[in-house]
Amino acid sequence: MDATSFVLKGNVCYSVSPQEASCTAGGYLVCVEGKSAGVFAELPERFASLPVIDCGDQLIVPGMSDIHVHAPQYAFRGLGMDLELIDWLNTRTFPEEARYADLAYAERAYSIFADDLRRSATTRAVVFGTLHVPATELLMDKLEATGLITYVGKVNMDRNSPDSLVETSEQSAEATRTWIADVAGRYERTRPIITPRFTPSVTDDLMAELSRIRAEFDLPVQSHLSENLSEVEWVHELCPWSSCYGDAYDHFGMLGPATVMAHCVYSDNEETELLRRTGTYVAHCPQSNAQLASGIAPIRRYLDLGMNVGLGTDVAGGADLSMFRCMADAVAVSKLRWRLVDQELAPLTTQEALWLATVGGGSFFGKVGSFAEGYELDALVLDDSGIRTPRELSDWERVERYVYLAEEGGRIARKFVAGREVELGA
Ligand code: GUN
Ligand code: FE
Repeated sequence: MDATSFVLKGNVCYSVSPQEASCTAGGYLVCVEGKSAGVFAELPERFASLPVIDCGDQLIVPGMSDIHVHAPQYAFRGLGMDLELIDWLNTRTFPEEARYADLAYAERAYSIFADDLRRSATTRAVVFGTLHVPATELLMDKLEATGLITYVGKVNMDRNSPDSLVETSEQSAEATRTWIADVAGRYERTRPIITPRFTPSVTDDLMAELSRIRAEFDLPVQSHLSENLSEVEWVHELCPWSSCYGDAYDHFGMLGPATVMAHCVYSDNEETELLRRTGTYVAHCPQSNAQLASGIAPIRRYLDLGMNVGLGTDVAGGADLSMFRCMADAVAVSKLRWRLVDQELAPLTTQEALWLATVGGGSFFGKVGSFAEGYELDALVLDDSGIRTPRELSDWERVERYVYLAEEGGRIARKFVAGREVELGA
Protein backbone atom coordinates (compact mmCIF):
# COMPACT_ATOMS: atom_id res chain seq x y z
CA MET A 1 0.00 0.00 0.00
CA ASP A 2 1.32 3.44 -0.90
CA ALA A 3 1.50 6.41 1.52
CA THR A 4 -2.11 7.13 1.43
CA SER A 5 -5.25 7.90 3.35
CA PHE A 6 -7.10 5.23 5.26
CA VAL A 7 -8.57 4.37 8.63
CA LEU A 8 -7.37 1.66 11.04
CA LYS A 9 -10.14 0.36 13.28
CA GLY A 10 -9.21 -1.51 16.45
CA ASN A 11 -8.12 -1.02 20.05
CA VAL A 12 -5.84 1.99 19.73
CA CYS A 13 -3.30 2.74 22.50
CA TYR A 14 -0.54 5.36 22.49
CA SER A 15 1.43 7.56 24.89
CA VAL A 16 -0.03 11.00 25.50
CA SER A 17 2.68 11.79 28.08
CA PRO A 18 5.49 9.78 29.68
CA GLN A 19 3.11 8.83 32.48
CA GLU A 20 -0.06 8.18 30.55
CA ALA A 21 -1.22 5.99 27.69
CA SER A 22 -4.54 6.68 26.01
CA CYS A 23 -6.58 3.66 24.86
CA THR A 24 -9.67 3.80 22.68
CA ALA A 25 -11.49 0.47 22.39
CA GLY A 26 -12.90 -0.11 18.91
CA GLY A 27 -11.46 3.25 17.91
CA TYR A 28 -10.65 4.80 14.55
CA LEU A 29 -7.07 5.89 13.81
CA VAL A 30 -7.27 8.12 10.76
CA CYS A 31 -4.30 8.43 8.38
CA VAL A 32 -4.37 11.26 5.84
CA GLU A 33 -1.48 11.31 3.37
CA GLY A 34 0.84 9.45 5.74
CA LYS A 35 0.01 11.50 8.81
CA SER A 36 -2.33 10.91 11.72
CA ALA A 37 -5.50 12.97 11.70
CA GLY A 38 -6.23 11.68 15.22
CA VAL A 39 -7.94 8.84 17.06
CA PHE A 40 -11.74 8.85 17.39
CA ALA A 41 -14.33 6.74 19.21
CA GLU A 42 -16.71 7.35 16.27
CA LEU A 43 -15.50 8.00 12.74
CA PRO A 44 -16.08 11.69 11.94
CA GLU A 45 -18.24 12.32 8.89
CA ARG A 46 -15.41 14.11 7.05
CA PHE A 47 -13.42 10.85 6.90
CA ALA A 48 -16.38 8.63 5.96
CA SER A 49 -15.15 8.14 2.38
CA LEU A 50 -11.75 6.71 3.43
CA PRO A 51 -11.17 2.95 3.22
CA VAL A 52 -11.40 1.27 6.64
CA ILE A 53 -8.99 -1.51 7.58
CA ASP A 54 -10.84 -3.43 10.27
CA CYS A 55 -8.33 -4.97 12.70
CA GLY A 56 -11.09 -6.58 14.76
CA ASP A 57 -10.11 -7.03 18.40
CA GLN A 58 -6.41 -6.47 17.77
CA LEU A 59 -4.29 -3.77 19.39
CA ILE A 60 -2.96 -0.79 17.42
CA VAL A 61 0.11 0.92 18.90
CA PRO A 62 2.73 3.31 17.47
CA GLY A 63 5.77 1.88 15.69
CA MET A 64 8.98 1.83 17.71
CA SER A 65 12.29 3.59 17.16
CA ASP A 66 15.48 1.65 17.91
CA ILE A 67 17.92 4.53 18.14
CA HIS A 68 21.08 2.45 18.61
CA VAL A 69 21.79 -0.82 16.80
CA HIS A 70 24.88 -2.29 15.06
CA ALA A 71 23.87 -4.09 11.84
CA PRO A 72 27.16 -6.02 11.37
CA GLN A 73 26.98 -7.39 14.89
CA TYR A 74 23.66 -9.13 14.21
CA ALA A 75 25.62 -12.12 12.90
CA PHE A 76 27.11 -12.94 16.32
CA ARG A 77 24.27 -11.92 18.59
CA GLY A 78 23.95 -14.12 21.66
CA LEU A 79 27.58 -15.24 21.47
CA GLY A 80 30.43 -14.25 23.75
CA MET A 81 28.47 -12.41 26.39
CA ASP A 82 31.10 -13.13 29.04
CA LEU A 83 33.29 -10.06 28.60
CA GLU A 84 33.26 -6.36 29.41
CA LEU A 85 33.24 -3.73 26.70
CA ILE A 86 36.89 -3.26 25.68
CA ASP A 87 37.77 -6.97 25.72
CA TRP A 88 34.50 -7.77 23.96
CA LEU A 89 35.29 -5.24 21.23
CA ASN A 90 38.80 -6.56 20.71
CA THR A 91 38.09 -10.27 20.78
CA ARG A 92 34.53 -10.57 19.44
CA THR A 93 33.38 -7.42 17.70
CA PHE A 94 36.32 -6.12 15.70
CA PRO A 95 37.14 -9.50 14.09
CA GLU A 96 33.49 -9.85 13.05
CA GLU A 97 33.27 -6.31 11.66
CA ALA A 98 36.50 -6.88 9.68
CA ARG A 99 34.64 -9.53 7.68
CA TYR A 100 32.52 -6.82 6.01
CA ALA A 101 35.46 -6.02 3.73
CA ASP A 102 34.10 -9.08 1.91
CA LEU A 103 30.94 -7.96 0.08
CA ALA A 104 29.70 -11.51 -0.36
CA TYR A 105 29.71 -11.95 3.43
CA ALA A 106 28.10 -8.53 3.89
CA GLU A 107 25.38 -9.51 1.40
CA ARG A 108 24.50 -12.63 3.36
CA ALA A 109 24.70 -10.99 6.77
CA TYR A 110 22.86 -7.76 5.91
CA SER A 111 20.09 -9.65 4.09
CA ILE A 112 19.33 -11.45 7.34
CA PHE A 113 19.56 -8.27 9.43
CA ALA A 114 17.30 -6.24 7.12
CA ASP A 115 14.80 -9.07 6.83
CA ASP A 116 14.53 -9.54 10.59
CA LEU A 117 14.33 -5.79 11.26
CA ARG A 118 11.53 -5.50 8.69
CA ARG A 119 9.47 -8.06 10.58
CA SER A 120 10.26 -6.63 14.04
CA ALA A 121 8.37 -3.96 15.99
CA THR A 122 10.87 -1.35 14.80
CA THR A 123 9.63 1.20 12.28
CA ARG A 124 12.63 3.56 12.52
CA ALA A 125 16.24 2.89 13.44
CA VAL A 126 19.58 4.62 13.90
CA VAL A 127 22.12 2.10 12.68
CA PHE A 128 25.90 1.58 12.79
CA GLY A 129 27.49 -0.15 9.79
CA THR A 130 31.23 -0.81 9.62
CA LEU A 131 34.04 1.37 8.29
CA HIS A 132 33.67 -0.21 4.82
CA VAL A 133 31.93 2.04 2.30
CA PRO A 134 30.73 -0.66 -0.16
CA ALA A 135 29.24 -2.79 2.63
CA THR A 136 27.60 0.25 4.24
CA GLU A 137 26.01 1.23 0.92
CA LEU A 138 24.80 -2.35 0.51
CA LEU A 139 23.26 -2.13 3.99
CA MET A 140 21.53 1.11 3.03
CA ASP A 141 20.15 -0.47 -0.17
CA LYS A 142 18.76 -3.34 1.86
CA LEU A 143 17.23 -1.14 4.55
CA GLU A 144 15.64 1.11 1.92
CA ALA A 145 13.96 -1.96 0.45
CA THR A 146 12.39 -2.88 3.80
CA GLY A 147 10.18 0.24 3.85
CA LEU A 148 11.54 1.26 7.26
CA ILE A 149 12.99 4.73 7.81
CA THR A 150 16.59 4.68 9.00
CA TYR A 151 19.79 6.60 9.54
CA VAL A 152 22.84 4.52 8.69
CA GLY A 153 26.46 5.29 9.50
CA LYS A 154 29.74 4.37 7.88
CA VAL A 155 31.90 3.98 10.99
CA ASN A 156 35.12 5.98 11.45
CA MET A 157 38.11 4.39 13.24
CA ASP A 158 41.69 5.67 12.98
CA ARG A 159 43.30 4.54 16.25
CA ASN A 160 43.37 1.76 18.86
CA SER A 161 41.93 -0.67 16.34
CA PRO A 162 43.30 -3.87 14.78
CA ASP A 163 45.10 -3.75 11.43
CA SER A 164 42.14 -5.51 9.85
CA LEU A 165 39.73 -2.76 10.94
CA VAL A 166 41.39 0.62 10.85
CA GLU A 167 41.85 3.56 8.49
CA THR A 168 44.35 6.38 8.42
CA SER A 169 42.80 9.73 9.34
CA GLU A 170 42.99 10.85 5.72
CA GLN A 171 41.47 7.62 4.37
CA SER A 172 38.66 7.79 6.90
CA ALA A 173 37.70 11.37 6.03
CA GLU A 174 38.05 10.72 2.31
CA ALA A 175 35.95 7.54 2.49
CA THR A 176 33.28 9.43 4.42
CA ARG A 177 33.08 12.11 1.72
CA THR A 178 32.94 9.46 -1.02
CA TRP A 179 30.16 7.67 0.79
CA ILE A 180 28.11 10.84 1.31
CA ALA A 181 28.47 11.71 -2.38
CA ASP A 182 27.51 8.16 -3.42
CA VAL A 183 24.29 8.04 -1.39
CA ALA A 184 23.15 11.64 -1.97
CA GLY A 185 19.67 11.55 -3.48
CA ARG A 186 19.75 7.75 -3.80
CA TYR A 187 17.10 6.91 -1.22
CA GLU A 188 13.69 7.98 -0.04
CA ARG A 189 13.85 6.51 3.48
CA THR A 190 17.53 5.98 4.25
CA ARG A 191 19.87 8.77 5.32
CA PRO A 192 23.57 8.92 6.20
CA ILE A 193 24.66 9.76 9.75
CA ILE A 194 28.22 10.67 10.77
CA THR A 195 29.53 7.85 12.98
CA PRO A 196 32.80 8.26 14.88
CA ARG A 197 32.80 4.88 16.69
CA PHE A 198 33.76 6.40 20.04
CA THR A 199 36.55 8.66 21.25
CA PRO A 200 39.06 5.82 21.84
CA SER A 201 38.78 4.87 18.13
CA VAL A 202 38.96 8.40 16.68
CA THR A 203 41.85 10.88 16.86
CA ASP A 204 41.20 14.53 17.58
CA ASP A 205 42.23 15.39 14.02
CA LEU A 206 39.69 13.02 12.51
CA MET A 207 36.98 14.15 14.94
CA ALA A 208 37.60 17.75 13.84
CA GLU A 209 37.38 16.78 10.18
CA LEU A 210 34.17 14.78 10.76
CA SER A 211 32.71 17.82 12.44
CA ARG A 212 33.49 19.89 9.33
CA ILE A 213 31.85 17.24 7.13
CA ARG A 214 28.83 17.13 9.43
CA ALA A 215 28.41 20.89 9.18
CA GLU A 216 29.04 21.02 5.43
CA PHE A 217 26.34 18.44 4.65
CA ASP A 218 24.08 19.19 7.61
CA LEU A 219 24.18 15.59 8.84
CA PRO A 220 23.24 14.04 12.17
CA VAL A 221 25.80 12.25 14.36
CA GLN A 222 25.86 9.04 16.40
CA SER A 223 28.42 7.64 18.79
CA HIS A 224 28.96 6.07 22.23
CA LEU A 225 29.42 7.93 25.52
CA SER A 226 30.28 6.92 29.09
CA GLU A 227 29.25 3.29 28.70
CA ASN A 228 31.91 1.58 30.81
CA LEU A 229 34.21 2.68 33.65
CA SER A 230 37.49 1.66 31.93
CA GLU A 231 36.36 3.43 28.76
CA VAL A 232 35.68 6.67 30.68
CA GLU A 233 39.12 6.43 32.29
CA TRP A 234 40.74 5.75 28.91
CA VAL A 235 39.15 8.84 27.35
CA HIS A 236 40.47 10.86 30.24
CA GLU A 237 44.00 9.69 29.29
CA LEU A 238 43.48 10.10 25.54
CA CYS A 239 42.00 13.61 25.80
CA PRO A 240 43.61 15.13 28.90
CA TRP A 241 42.36 18.52 27.75
CA SER A 242 38.70 17.48 28.08
CA SER A 243 36.74 18.33 31.20
CA CYS A 244 34.59 15.20 30.84
CA TYR A 245 34.09 12.49 28.18
CA GLY A 246 31.17 14.43 26.69
CA ASP A 247 33.46 17.43 26.30
CA ALA A 248 35.67 15.30 24.01
CA TYR A 249 32.73 15.38 21.56
CA ASP A 250 31.35 18.82 22.40
CA HIS A 251 34.78 20.43 21.86
CA PHE A 252 34.41 19.46 18.18
CA GLY A 253 30.76 20.55 17.94
CA MET A 254 29.47 16.99 17.81
CA LEU A 255 26.65 17.33 20.38
CA GLY A 256 23.17 18.74 19.73
CA PRO A 257 19.60 17.69 18.97
CA ALA A 258 20.75 15.89 15.80
CA THR A 259 23.15 13.69 17.79
CA VAL A 260 22.49 10.32 19.47
CA MET A 261 24.91 9.23 22.19
CA ALA A 262 24.48 5.61 23.23
CA HIS A 263 24.54 4.62 26.91
CA CYS A 264 25.48 7.59 29.15
CA VAL A 265 25.70 5.22 32.11
CA TYR A 266 28.44 7.19 33.89
CA SER A 267 27.64 10.77 32.91
CA ASP A 268 28.54 13.03 35.84
CA ASN A 269 26.76 16.31 36.61
CA GLU A 270 28.84 18.27 34.14
CA GLU A 271 28.31 15.79 31.32
CA THR A 272 24.60 15.48 32.07
CA GLU A 273 24.25 19.26 31.95
CA LEU A 274 26.14 19.31 28.63
CA LEU A 275 23.78 16.72 27.16
CA ARG A 276 20.74 18.55 28.49
CA ARG A 277 21.85 21.98 27.34
CA THR A 278 22.72 20.78 23.84
CA GLY A 279 19.54 18.67 23.47
CA THR A 280 21.64 15.59 22.64
CA TYR A 281 19.72 12.32 22.51
CA VAL A 282 20.60 9.57 24.98
CA ALA A 283 20.04 6.05 23.62
CA HIS A 284 19.34 3.87 26.64
CA CYS A 285 20.38 0.27 25.93
CA PRO A 286 19.45 -1.70 29.04
CA GLN A 287 20.06 -5.22 27.77
CA SER A 288 23.51 -4.34 26.45
CA ASN A 289 24.39 -2.55 29.69
CA ALA A 290 23.50 -5.72 31.60
CA GLN A 291 25.15 -8.24 29.23
CA LEU A 292 28.45 -6.32 29.01
CA ALA A 293 28.29 -5.62 32.77
CA SER A 294 28.49 -1.90 31.96
CA GLY A 295 26.12 -0.59 34.62
CA ILE A 296 22.68 1.04 34.83
CA ALA A 297 22.03 4.46 33.32
CA PRO A 298 20.07 6.94 35.47
CA ILE A 299 17.21 7.32 33.00
CA ARG A 300 14.78 8.65 35.62
CA ARG A 301 17.19 11.51 36.20
CA TYR A 302 17.41 12.28 32.49
CA LEU A 303 13.62 12.24 32.20
CA ASP A 304 13.23 14.51 35.23
CA LEU A 305 15.63 16.96 33.57
CA GLY A 306 13.50 16.94 30.41
CA MET A 307 16.31 15.47 28.31
CA ASN A 308 15.88 13.71 24.96
CA VAL A 309 15.94 9.97 25.66
CA GLY A 310 15.03 6.92 23.59
CA LEU A 311 15.75 3.19 23.61
CA GLY A 312 18.28 1.11 21.71
CA THR A 313 18.82 -2.63 21.41
CA ASP A 314 22.58 -2.12 20.78
CA VAL A 315 22.80 -5.50 19.07
CA ALA A 316 25.07 -7.38 19.67
CA GLY A 317 25.71 -5.90 23.13
CA GLY A 318 22.00 -6.68 23.38
CA ALA A 319 21.14 -10.07 21.90
CA ASP A 320 17.95 -9.30 20.00
CA LEU A 321 16.06 -6.71 18.01
CA SER A 322 12.89 -6.82 20.11
CA MET A 323 11.86 -3.35 21.27
CA PHE A 324 9.34 -5.02 23.59
CA ARG A 325 12.20 -6.85 25.31
CA CYS A 326 14.07 -3.54 25.39
CA MET A 327 11.13 -1.86 27.15
CA ALA A 328 10.84 -4.67 29.71
CA ASP A 329 14.60 -4.52 30.33
CA ALA A 330 14.48 -0.73 30.79
CA VAL A 331 11.89 -1.18 33.53
CA ALA A 332 13.73 -4.11 35.13
CA VAL A 333 17.17 -2.46 35.32
CA SER A 334 15.62 0.76 36.66
CA LYS A 335 14.16 -1.31 39.50
CA LEU A 336 17.54 -2.84 40.27
CA ARG A 337 19.14 0.60 40.21
CA TRP A 338 16.50 1.89 42.60
CA ARG A 339 16.88 -1.11 44.90
CA LEU A 340 20.67 -1.38 44.86
CA VAL A 341 22.12 2.00 43.91
CA ASP A 342 19.96 5.05 44.46
CA GLN A 343 16.55 5.16 46.09
CA GLU A 344 16.15 8.79 45.06
CA LEU A 345 15.50 7.71 41.49
CA ALA A 346 12.17 5.90 41.20
CA PRO A 347 11.97 2.95 38.79
CA LEU A 348 10.49 3.45 35.33
CA THR A 349 6.93 2.35 34.69
CA THR A 350 5.73 0.37 31.67
CA GLN A 351 3.91 3.52 30.53
CA GLU A 352 7.22 5.37 30.57
CA ALA A 353 8.94 2.54 28.70
CA LEU A 354 6.28 2.75 25.96
CA TRP A 355 6.79 6.49 25.78
CA LEU A 356 10.58 6.06 25.45
CA ALA A 357 10.22 3.41 22.72
CA THR A 358 7.76 5.50 20.70
CA VAL A 359 7.76 9.27 21.28
CA GLY A 360 11.13 9.45 23.06
CA GLY A 361 13.21 7.90 20.27
CA GLY A 362 10.73 8.75 17.52
CA SER A 363 11.23 12.48 18.03
CA PHE A 364 14.77 12.10 16.65
CA PHE A 365 13.01 11.58 13.31
CA GLY A 366 10.59 14.52 13.70
CA LYS A 367 6.91 14.23 14.64
CA VAL A 368 7.04 10.47 15.12
CA GLY A 369 5.89 8.02 17.80
CA SER A 370 2.42 9.35 18.62
CA PHE A 371 -1.04 9.11 17.07
CA ALA A 372 -1.79 12.75 17.92
CA GLU A 373 -2.87 14.79 14.93
CA GLY A 374 -0.01 15.74 12.63
CA TYR A 375 2.37 12.92 13.57
CA GLU A 376 3.73 10.70 10.81
CA LEU A 377 1.74 7.52 11.02
CA ASP A 378 3.93 4.63 12.16
CA ALA A 379 1.73 1.86 13.53
CA LEU A 380 1.82 -1.77 14.61
CA VAL A 381 -1.24 -4.00 14.64
CA LEU A 382 -0.66 -6.56 17.39
CA ASP A 383 -2.35 -9.93 17.61
CA ASP A 384 -2.13 -11.10 21.22
CA SER A 385 -4.61 -13.96 20.89
CA GLY A 386 -1.75 -16.49 21.26
CA ILE A 387 -0.92 -15.22 24.77
CA ARG A 388 -3.63 -17.13 26.57
CA THR A 389 -5.40 -16.19 29.78
CA PRO A 390 -8.85 -16.81 31.25
CA ARG A 391 -8.93 -13.21 32.48
CA GLU A 392 -10.73 -10.23 31.01
CA LEU A 393 -8.07 -7.61 30.35
CA SER A 394 -8.31 -3.91 29.66
CA ASP A 395 -6.64 -2.71 26.46
CA TRP A 396 -3.78 -1.20 28.46
CA GLU A 397 -3.27 -4.48 30.33
CA ARG A 398 -3.10 -6.22 26.96
CA VAL A 399 -0.37 -3.81 25.82
CA GLU A 400 1.48 -4.16 29.10
CA ARG A 401 1.52 -7.93 28.97
CA TYR A 402 2.47 -7.89 25.29
CA VAL A 403 5.64 -6.02 26.32
CA TYR A 404 6.62 -8.89 28.59
CA LEU A 405 5.23 -11.81 26.60
CA ALA A 406 5.63 -10.76 22.96
CA GLU A 407 8.01 -13.59 22.23
CA GLU A 408 5.66 -16.17 23.75
CA GLY A 409 2.60 -15.76 21.57
CA GLY A 410 2.52 -12.22 20.20
CA ARG A 411 2.34 -11.60 16.47
CA ILE A 412 2.77 -8.38 14.55
CA ALA A 413 -0.14 -8.64 12.14
CA ARG A 414 0.50 -5.44 10.17
CA LYS A 415 3.01 -2.65 10.23
CA PHE A 416 2.86 0.88 8.77
CA VAL A 417 5.66 3.42 8.38
CA ALA A 418 4.69 7.01 7.56
CA GLY A 419 1.37 5.66 6.33
CA ARG A 420 2.83 2.98 4.09
CA GLU A 421 2.25 -0.65 4.85
CA VAL A 422 5.39 -2.76 5.27
CA GLU A 423 5.23 -6.21 3.69
CA LEU A 424 5.73 -8.62 6.59
CA GLY A 425 5.66 -11.80 4.52
CA ALA A 426 6.54 -15.14 5.99
N1 GUN B 1 31.76 1.32 22.01
C1 GUN B 1 32.49 1.37 20.87
N2 GUN B 1 32.07 0.46 19.98
C2 GUN B 1 31.05 -0.18 20.55
C3 GUN B 1 30.19 -1.24 20.12
O1 GUN B 1 30.30 -1.77 19.01
N3 GUN B 1 29.25 -1.63 20.99
C4 GUN B 1 29.10 -1.06 22.22
N4 GUN B 1 28.13 -1.50 23.03
N5 GUN B 1 29.89 -0.09 22.65
C5 GUN B 1 30.86 0.35 21.83
FE1 FE C 1 26.73 0.34 20.49
